[in-house]
Amino acid sequence: MKFFVDTAVIEEIRELNDLGMVDGVTTNPSLILKSGRNILEVTREICDIVSGPVSAEVVATKADDMIAEGRKLAAIAPNIAVKVPLTWDGLKTCKVLSDEGFMVNVTLCFSANQALLAAKAGATFISPFIGRLDDQNIDGLDLIEDIRTIYDNYDFQTQILAASIRSVNHMSDCAKIGADVATAPAKVIKSMANHILTDKGLEQFMADWAKTGQSII
Ligand code: E4P
Repeated sequence: MKFFVDTAVIEEIRELNDLGMVDGVTTNPSLILKSGRNILEVTREICDIVSGPVSAEVVATKADDMIAEGRKLAAIAPNIAVKVPLTWDGLKTCKVLSDEGFMVNVTLCFSANQALLAAKAGATFISPFIGRLDDQNIDGLDLIEDIRTIYDNYDFQTQILAASIRSVNHMSDCAKIGADVATAPAKVIKSMANHILTDKGLEQFMADWAKTGQSII
């Protein structure tokens, strides 16, 4: 499973990228707001750091305007994936831009039928939002599983990009189901390294090592 980091904060991207943990980046208007940066500038900077797909989201709602915005975003760098919402206009935009050879990430997906439409429209990525479904007492992971089944049934090449990930368990569950990509905040990716037994074990080893009176260097 590929890891995308869901942020527009350069320092977070750089730290994870240096460790080889970043296969791509996703941003959205809320993350741009949080970063306090200009969308075109920060997206360009991210594309200079990360070689994998960098999602940048259109903000128009009518297809013609979305297409124009998408082309402008795509011109930033060859690794831009234009992010469009899963609306009818978004699907039209997806079809036009993917036919022009651009990567398209169809976002705000909350049902298997929506994912089916996105694949038919030529989406490179479909982004089902797990955490926001969980917030509504609907199991977001069931949706990932359903989309996996449907895409495999018909050999759709659209990649399942599990989004709105809130916990480390979401990450391992998505990997078990077979999501192609998971995008998560840097904090969640870093927390995957944590285990209470690792901390306890290390504490014991350090205490015993101190008693040996030895040093390695
Ligand atoms: C994905 O591309 C979205 O930017 C993101 O995962 C949304 O997550 P949220 O529901 O935590 O805002």
